Amino acid sequence: MLSVVRTVANYFLAVETKEGVGAVVRRSIGTGYQRNFSPFLLLDHFTVSHPAGFPDHPHHGQETITYMQKGMLAHEDFTGSKGILYPGDLQFMTAGKGAMHAEMPVLMENGDACVGLQLWVDLPEELKDVAPRYRDLKKNDVPIAHPNDNLWVKVISGTSYGVESVKELAYTPVDYYQFNSNKKGTSFEQKVPADFNVFIYVTKGAIKIGGKTYPQYSSIFFNVDGTEIKGEIDADGDTEFFIIGGLILDQPILQYGPFVEINRDRLAKVFENYQNHTNGFERAAGWRSSIKNGITEKEAANHK
Ligand code: FE2
Repeated sequence: MLSVVRTVANYFLAVETKEGVGAVVRRSIGTGYQRNFSPFLLLDHFTVSHPAGFPDHPHHGQETITYMQKGMLAHEDFTGSKGILYPGDLQFMTAGKGAMHAEMPVLMENGDACVGLQLWVDLPEELKDVAPRYRDLKKNDVPIAHPNDNLWVKVISGTSYGVESVKELAYTPVDYYQFNSNKKGTSFEQKVPADFNVFIYVTKGAIKIGGKTYPQYSSIFFNVDGTEIKGEIDADGDTEFFIIGGLILDQPILQYGPFVEINRDRLAKVFENYQNHTNGFERAAGWRSSIKNGITEKEAANHK
């Protein structure tokens, strides 16, 4: 069967936004240029250094996928679950009916900032109120496809060039690939399910799709008009970009900060639960994370 190549629907450069406490993020999804892209609610490309970070805050009705590229990120939630993400590691967090946690960069002895991507994924209506859950995906559990001398694909979730990822990381089906190349003109392709929304985010270098060049920080959103993404590398030196897709959910998105619901009444109810420490937020009463003011590399060794 012939596969049809998807065309580009929307494109812009991710813009810098202030977020959390003293953190600056480059945001693509979740801005006026692309409010959301079902099932995706937000994509932040963050660079954060101690003492900035994302201290104690709640979530409801979505999943977050955090990918560390550089530095170390400590996390801790109100169930007592805690850990450290090292470069190349991912965490899939299902907030479900209610989660409260802190995500703080580790103060690195070598001075490195904490760099990574955080993606927010909507939960299907019937799963909005599931119990919170965490899945860690360690760097060494991410297989790498190497289809030719100049192309590498980290298969975080999905299948690329015949290489398959670990399965069932998130409730909402998501494909997540990191492409790296060191040579201009290298072509790439990625099969995508017909019922997925798919976008690309360029972290380094540039790529060309349909004759047009997309530089660093490009956010490229595709029409749902095919089952393949095709392009080529368009920069000398290193290029790195992400192809991310997710099952389109046929439901409204009502979002207020980290609370995501399908209608106003349910959203109001979530606020009530958060304020009254009920229905999923019981453990938020009086909870403070141990990392809200930061964490050193020494302390991180025991943060588990
Ligand atoms: Fe969070």
